[in-house]
Amino acid sequence: MKPVIAVYPGSFDPVTNGHLDLIERGSKIFHRLIVAVLQNQEKEPMFNLNERLDMLRETTRAWQNVEVDAFNGLLADFAREKDARVILRGIRAVSDYEYELQMALMNRKLEPQVETVFMLPAEAYSFLSSRLVREVARLGGTLRGLVPPAVEERLRKKFG
Ligand code: PNS
Repeated sequence: MKPVIAVYPGSFDPVTNGHLDLIERGSKIFHRLIVAVLQNQEKEPMFNLNERLDMLRETTRAWQNVEVDAFNGLLADFAREKDARVILRGIRAVSDYEYELQMALMNRKLEPQVETVFMLPAEAYSFLSSRLVREVARLGGTLRGLVPPAVEERLRKKFG
């Protein structure tokens, strides 16, 4: 069997400890894991693409088989270009399932050769999302233990 390449896509605005937990789990299963940052978002992100890539590169440096890349357009096309056999997604709670199911089935329609694999992050992160991190940071709450120190620092700078 050929080495299995997986793509882990998302907005990562910003990367959280929940994302890193999943990346670590994925890095132990797949030969190569490409963390793919969506560039052309509908909503304006809090961190621009370069900032999001920098934070991910800084926080995933320890894993030799993990790389960070950006993508535009369809995820299915990006996965095909990278010769990936897997799209990795995290599911935190039942509420994530419906959206994830729709995406996985659409991606299968677009690229039948690629399988979506769902993994569960540690329970400690089951309530965590980038959206909540942005909100808590904006309102001055503590994010210790929820995002890496480098991300906490960037959020602090952004909000003074
Ligand atoms: O973790 P997120 O931020 O919800 O990630 C969403 C993402 C980037 C995985 C999704 O929006 C995506 O794949 N966008 C690329 C466009 C695409 O391929 N759309 C059709 C897939 S259903």
